[in-house]
Amino acid sequence: SSPSPSPSPFKLPPNLPPLPLVPGTDPERCVLDAFRTAIAQRVADALPPLTVEQAYQGVDYGKKGVDFTVALPRFRLPGKVDELAAKVLSNFQPDEWIDNIVHDKAFLHFTLRTRTLARLVLDQVHALTHETASGAPEYGTHATGRGKRVIIEYSSPNIAKQFHVGHLRSTIIGAFLANLYKACGWEVISMNYLGDWGTQFGLIAVGFDKYGSREELEKDAIKHLFDVYVKINKDAETDPAVKAEAAAFFRRMEDGDEEALANWRVWRELSVRKYEEEYARLNVRFDVYTGESQVGKEAQAQALQRLEDMGLIDEHEGAKLVNLEQWKMGKAVVRKKDGTSIYLTRDIGGATERYEKYKFDKMIYVISSQQDLHVKQFFKVLKLMEFPWADRLEHVNYGLVLGMSTRRGTVVFLNEIMREAGTVMHEQMRKNEEKYKNVEDPAAVAQEIGITGVKIQDMAAKRINNYTFNWDRMLSFEGDTGPYLQYAHVRIASISRKNPALLPLPPRAALDTALLTEPAAREIVLLLGSYPDVVATALRTHEPSGVVTFAFRLAHAISSAWETVVVKGAPDEPTARVRMWMYLCARDVLGAAMRLLSLQPLERM
Ligand code: ARG
Repeated sequence: SSPSPSPSPFKLPPNLPPLPLVPGTDPERCVLDAFRTAIAQRVADALPPLTVEQAYQGVDYGKKGVDFTVALPRFRLPGKVDELAAKVLSNFQPDEWIDNIVHDKAFLHFTLRTRTLARLVLDQVHALTHETASGAPEYGTHATGRGKRVIIEYSSPNIAKQFHVGHLRSTIIGAFLANLYKACGWEVISMNYLGDWGTQFGLIAVGFDKYGSREELEKDAIKHLFDVYVKINKDAETDPAVKAEAAAFFRRMEDGDEEALANWRVWRELSVRKYEEEYARLNVRFDVYTGESQVGKEAQAQALQRLEDMGLIDEHEGAKLVNLEQWKMGKAVVRKKDGTSIYLTRDIGGATERYEKYKFDKMIYVISSQQDLHVKQFFKVLKLMEFPWADRLEHVNYGLVLGMSTRRGTVVFLNEIMREAGTVMHEQMRKNEEKYKNVEDPAAVAQEIGITGVKIQDMAAKRINNYTFNWDRMLSFEGDTGPYLQYAHVRIASISRKNPALLPLPPRAALDTALLTEPAAREIVLLLGSYPDVVATALRTHEPSGVVTFAFRLAHAISSAWETVVVKGAPDEPTARVRMWMYLCARDVLGAAMRLLSLQPLERM
C-alpha cells in the first residue's frame, strides 16, 4: 500500500531569506528546489513581466563546476541577452542562498552559498533517512503517486522454453520500475505473465509420456521440461504423427479436459516454485503470477465480438484480422482459421480482465523491442475498441543482449547465468589472497557481487541500446562496474567501524557544517542534494541508467574526497565529526540508489 502522506521531518530554517512557493516544487523533500526558487526569484525580479514560475522552468544544472545555469534566450523576452544579463547582475546582492552570478554569453551561472547548501542538504538527507514517521528511509522519494495504482508486468518467461537474457533484462528493468513507482507513492502490483499456454504444451505432454520423469521434474522442473521439449521437438521433425498427436492433445486442453490438464498444472506449479527461488536470489518478487493460460475464453470472445460489432474486423481466408495499415502497423490477426486463440488476442482479453479486476491508473509492459510491432498493434486495437483506459497502457521496451554464453556454451537458464556470475566473481576475489582471507562467506559475497555486475551492465546504458554480454568487463573491479559500486559502498560503510570513538554523533543541530569547506566535500553535498531529482527524472523516462550514472558519480566523488577530507587525522574533533556525518549521509544515499536498482548494498567484502 502507498506510504501515508506524512509530513517531512525536515523544515526550512526560519532565519533564511523567505522564498515564494513555486507550484510543483517540494523543498521539504528536495531542498535544491529552494535554491532554484531563490535563483528564479532573482531572475524574475530583474526581468518583468517574467514570473517566478516561468523563471523557475529555466533553471538547469550547470556544466562541470557550475551549480545552476539559466539560458536567457529561452524566456523569449524583448531586448538583447547582454542587456537582460546586466539587469540581473546590477540588482544582485549575495545572500544566504546565492553567493555569486557569472554572466557568460547567453548564460547566467549561479553559485550557491556553500554554508547553506551543506547545512540544508545534510539535514534533509539525515532527517528523511532516520527521522521519518514511517521509520523507513524516504530521502529521494515523494508522494506524487499517492492513491494511484500501477500494474507492472515484467519477466514473463515461457515455461519449458528458454529463460533467455531478454527475460533477464525485463526482470531487471521491471524490478527497478516496481521499486521506483513505490518510492513515488504508487501502489504497485508486480505481475509475471507466464508463457504457459499454446501448442507447445501438447507437444510436451506427448514428450512427457515418452521421456518424462517425475523425479527429475521435482528436482528442477524448468530444466527437465526444457529437456523433454528439446527431445520431442526432434522427434516431431521426422515423425509427423507426433505433431498431430500434440495438436490433438492441446485441443483437449483448450476444451478444458481435466485429464489433459492435470499434468500441465503440475508443470506450471513446479516451474513457478523454481522461478520464485531464482527471483529471490535476484532480489525480485512478484505479487501475481498469471499467464497466458489464465486469460479467460469469455474475455477473448467478448473482445472479438466488440471488434465485430464496431466493424473493425476483416475476414481473410477464414482468419479474422484488424487492418492497421493506415497507422503502418500491418494487419493484426486476432483469430486463426482453426479458431484457436493467439498471443495478441490473449493480450487484448487479458488487458480487459485486468482493468475489470484492478481498475489500474497505469499499466506498464516491460517487453523487448523485438515485440514493438506486437505491442503497437495490441495498444492500437484497444484504442480502436474505445476503452477509456486504453491510453493508460505503456510499453517500456529494451534492446538485445548479444553474445551471452558461459564457458561451457550457450546459456539458456537463469540459474546458469547466476551460477556463472558467482563463480567468475569468486575466482576474481581469490586473486587477492590478503583480502580473501578476511571475507566471512566468500561464496555468498561472490554471488551478490556477481549479480550486481550483471545488473549494472544491464542498466548502465539507455534501455533501447543493445549491449554485448561480457563477463570480464562486468565483473572487473575497475571502471564503472557492479563490483566497483559494491566496493565503494563497503568502503564508505566501514567508516563507523574505523572511528568508533566519534560515535554516537551528537544531534545534527550540534554538527558544524560550516567546517565543510573543501571543494571535494561540496561536490559530495551537491550530488546528495540532486538525488530527489534523479529519482523524479527516472520516473519520467523509465530509464535506470540515470540512477546508475548518479551512483557512480557519487562513488567517484566519495573516492576523491576520501584521501583529502579525512576523518582520522582531521584538524580537530568538530571537523572530524561533521566529516564523518557527511560520509554517513553519503553512504545512506548511495545505499538508497543501489536499493532502488534492486541491488543489496554490501557492508563487507
Ligand atoms: N512470454 C513472452 C515471451 O517470452 C513475453 C510476454 C510479454 N508480455 C505480454 N503481455 N505480451 O516472448
